[in-house]
Amino acid sequence: MRSKRMWIGVLGILGALSLGLTVAQAGVSDIFGTDHDLGTTAVPTCMQCHTPHKAKGPYLWARDFSAVYPSLTGLMKLCFSCHDGGVTNVGEFMVAPGIVNHEVNVGVEGEDCDRCHDPHVDNWKFVTDTAIPTEYRNANLCSACHTGDIGVSHPLVETNKPIDRVWNPYASPADFSGTRLFNAAGDTEVPTGTGNIKCATCHVPHGSVDAVGLNSMLYVDPASEHSPICENCHQ
Ligand code: HEC
Ligand code: HEC
Ligand code: HEC
Ligand code: HEC
Ligand code: HEC
Ligand code: HEC
Repeated sequence: MRSKRMWIGVLGILGALSLGLTVAQAGVSDIFGTDHDLGTTAVPTCMQCHTPHKAKGPYLWARDFSAVYPSLTGLMKLCFSCHDGGVTNVGEFMVAPGIVNHEVNVGVEGEDCDRCHDPHVDNWKFVTDTAIPTEYRNANLCSACHTGDIGVSHPLVETNKPIDRVWNPYASPADFSGTRLFNAAGDTEVPTGTGNIKCATCHVPHGSVDAVGLNSMLYVDPASEHSPICENCHQ
């Protein structure tokens, strides 16, 4: 009897501890100190995006949806109420005609933009910590979900091989072609010298030149028998 009670006690403490850990691990207030911490003393951070009453839409949205791109659907409406150039032009290139983005299931929770992003978390590129394990919150993000389906793959090694290693949708004109190299952690681009090949060297989730593989250069060039993405490093 006594030992049974003791075990219940121990389990209770463990349960409380793990609950405590869950709360500490990820929470909406991780937003403070990030680029999404846009609060002022008059309009605090949460209020920039949420309002308890008279909300403009789902998630008690405090903002009007994009005036610049009114036809957007799902979470894009929320994100682009700022990312349409009104508050920031970061990501605005994604909605230009002809731009290829990673598939989302519009309006389905966890499969829309929130498949990969959570605007509250203090992670690289606001990558969600719900679906993406820590080791993939970087330029190897694709591996969090596509491991089984790609099998034996191109090595992810250090090199200075690429001829064109600049991929920059913000350049003028926009440069959507090149294979970038990254630091070992995969959270910073390395523009010169040796750097590491990561999934994001050959792939981009936004602004791909190839709808099939989301590649950053063509693998199958319909105009020739060449593979520009391979020949960018292997001449
Ligand atoms: C930059 C805009 C933005 C700010 C600032 C913001 N949120 Fe959110 N919030 C969102 C978006 C977008 C969603 C829905 C996205 C999703 O599916 O995770 C959301 C969803 C939520 C949800 C429901 C889903 C969940 O994760 O439980 C809660 C609760 C929430 N926010 C609370 C807060 C609180 C509290 C703050 C202030 C500490 C805050 N938010 C600040 C954009 C914001
Ligand atoms: C209230 C305005 C606002 C809303 C709403 C908002 N963002 Fe942002 N976001 C910003 C600002 C401002 C920045 C910082 C841009 C800069 O660096 O100039 C930013 C930065 C980012 C970045 C990081 C860019 C980088 O280089 O690190 C990502 C990713 C991002 N937002 C995704 C989202 C997504 C996804 C949503 C919708 C779920 C969203 N944001 C909603 C204002 C917003
Ligand atoms: C498959 C995962 C994935 C999905 C789905 C996704 N993103 Fe992203 N997003 C990323 C990654 C990874 C980056 C960083 C890209 C890079 O630097 O190459 C990024 C970058 C961004 C940025 C910052 C651009 C910059 O200059 O750094 C914004 C804004 C953004 N995403 C918004 C969105 C919105 C809005 C949606 C929904 C329509 C969305 N994302 C869906 C993975 C995703
Ligand atoms: C959070 C999980 C997740 C992440 C991270 C992710 N994907 Fe996906 N991806 C999916 C799912 C799920 C599908 C299937 C389509 C759907 O259900 O919308 C898909 C579909 C695809 C497709 C089209 C279908 C195919 O297999 O031919 C490509 C290409 C792709 N992803 C590439 C990438 C690349 C490149 C990255 C990294 C930038 C990435 N994905 C990151 C979940 C993810
Ligand atoms: C050296 C360049 C390169 C690197 C690095 C690379 N890929 Fe790919 N990947 C490609 C090319 C090229 C294709 C298109 C294949 C095709 O069209 O047959 C592709 C296709 C894909 C696809 C979609 C189609 C398929 O074959 O299932 C996924 C998913 C994918 N890669 C995931 C990844 C992941 C995850 C990583 C990081 C571990 C990665 N890739 C790293 C070049 C690369
Ligand atoms: C960003 C540069 C880069 C790109 C893009 C690239 N490679 Fe590589 N590849 C390398 C490096 C570095 C190695 C390691 C050995 C070496 O230096 O040749 C390598 C190794 C290889 C190997 C040897 C694999 C092994 O296990 O030893 C093959 C085959 C290969 N690449 C084919 C391709 C093909 C096909 C493509 C296009 C789909 C491609 N590569 C794109 C840089 C690249």
